[in-house]
Amino acid sequence: MTQLLRINSSSRLQGSHSAAVADAFEAEFRTQYPGCRVITRNVSDGSIPFIAQETIEGFYAPQDGLSVELQAATALSDSLIAEIQASDTLLLAVPIYNFSIPAALKAWVDQISRIGHTFSMGEGGFKGLVKTRRAVVVCTYGAEGYLAGEPFSAANFVQPYLKFLLNFLGVESVEFVHVQGTAIAAADAFADRLEAAKDEAKRAV
Ligand SMILES: Cc1cc2nc3c(=O)[nH]c(=O)nc-3n(C[C@H](O)[C@H](O)[C@H](O)COP(=O)(O)O)c2cc1C
Repeated sequence: MTQLLRINSSSRLQGSHSAAVADAFEAEFRTQYPGCRVITRNVSDGSIPFIAQETIEGFYAPQDGLSVELQAATALSDSLIAEIQASDTLLLAVPIYNFSIPAALKAWVDQISRIGHTFSMGEGGFKGLVKTRRAVVVCTYGAEGYLAGEPFSAANFVQPYLKFLLNFLGVESVEFVHVQGTAIAAADAFADRLEAAKDEAKRAV
């Protein structure tokens, strides 16, 4: 069964523009893949803690025969990794927060980026182990000018970071849909921009 893993990372559970564009993608995905499974995680709801001392110990300990304590410390990582490994497509809804990704999304990244599980390190260098073949990332920006060739592109630590990270983990195709000026664009111009982004998201399915 085709599976979509959707990660919402805005702290706004109502009125989020990144979620609205991701909704358009999800609706089209459901149309094109009837019977698909969609798993949604709102990472800003506090369900994903920052990794702690025991989490790191568990990540780097031999995985056979982990102590009960280290099994417990890595259980959430296990289940989040199982989720991504079983998904054909990954959809990330990501607002820029202080020029980077929301801390809640970084907490998820730190739980799923795990040696021996989602990447390996050997004589040939790093190898991504994530089986998900493609990711679509909806990025929203309060201001404008963040895209390649634009005046503020050096301040965009969202797109280059997520592209590098997802490729590093083995996700070969990473496509971005951007909505800029959510906090400053005039209302009617912004409405058009949002609709255009929804159309782009649908085409990305
Ligand atoms: C904590 C916080 C930090 C933000 N930092 C930036 C920023 O660095 N650059 C920017 O252009 N907009 C910034 N914004 C604006 C958001 O990116 C913008 O409102 C976006 O639409 C939020 O996504 P959402 O509509 O999905 O909630 C910030 C908003 C918040 C709440």
